[in-house]
Amino acid sequence: MLKEKIDQITALGLDAVAGAKSSQELNDVRVKYLGKSGEVTALLKSLKDVPNAEKPAMGKLINDVKVKIDSALAQREATIALAERKAIEEKERLDVTLSKDNLEQGALHPLTLVKNEMLNIFMGLGFSVADGPEVDYTRYNFELLNIPQDHPARDFGDSFYINPDILLRTQTSCVQARVMEVTKPPIRIVCPGKVYRPDDDATHSPMFQQLEGLVVDEHITLADLKGTLEEFAKKFFSPSTKVRFRPSYFPFTEPSVEVDLSCAMCGGKGCRLCKGTGWIELLGAGVVNPAVLDACGIDSKKYTGYAFGVGIERATMIKYSIPDMRLLFDNDIRYAKQFK
Ligand code: DAH
Repeated sequence: MLKEKIDQITALGLDAVAGAKSSQELNDVRVKYLGKSGEVTALLKSLKDVPNAEKPAMGKLINDVKVKIDSALAQREATIALAERKAIEEKERLDVTLSKDNLEQGALHPLTLVKNEMLNIFMGLGFSVADGPEVDYTRYNFELLNIPQDHPARDFGDSFYINPDILLRTQTSCVQARVMEVTKPPIRIVCPGKVYRPDDDATHSPMFQQLEGLVVDEHITLADLKGTLEEFAKKFFSPSTKVRFRPSYFPFTEPSVEVDLSCAMCGGKGCRLCKGTGWIELLGAGVVNPAVLDACGIDSKKYTGYAFGVGIERATMIKYSIPDMRLLFDNDIRYAKQFK
């Protein structure tokens, strides 16, 4: 009886080992047959009911079953481990023949390239770079810059207000007020940054960037401004670029000028780009209004200064003959790539 049971368990056990497909299944088989409450252990326990004379022979048979199943398990385990490792290797294999040509390298946005180029030119001329908040007090955006409460630029419709005293800055000129308030001359700074106005068409965007320049020292005149901007224009546009000043008005400068560049397309003869005038308007500038110096705590009897504010998008559009500002914001990679 027991002998038959032993044979049966041997056959079932070896079948189960052969049929196990994973190390998990194999482990289940080990527990089922050789575990503490497993089939072979149960056989050993049943020895106590076997007549004493037969015990040694039966005991040996049961032990043989254990050894057989054990060694079958070991063999099967090796086979399964090999297969499992192969499966993992296959799944995680690196294809070293994959072409790396499809990997695109990123690049800086054209506006960032232009901003960096401008900063480099001004730093080469001895300017340092200043920064200020994009959300600012009207005190810096307007009051200290001699833009009184009743000035048209203060209309609520013209600016994004957070509350009556705080707005998204409409110009980087507020940084010059912030710098002058805490710095003694000589001052020689440029500050690039985003500004916000509610305009939106081919040449205006509700968000755009300006680069503000400010120099304050003894004996600074409009001639210093002209020399600096001419140097900048030659380096940024082309060595043959000429600069022209036209009278203008800004509350924070007196006198104020509009600065034009000779048209790069026709060399000043007049073409479609410059609308036949030979000149293209680039930026606003002027001699810092003494009222602004005084409001910011700088003695206007001792010091004078000049300031300018240039649109970074505008400069980019002129430099690369871009007809629509929105092309710079659309983030079409095919477009941006041309500037690499
Ligand atoms: N803030 C002016 C604007 O946004 C640009 C400007 C003009 C800045 C003259 C200046 C300046 O510093 O002196 O249109």
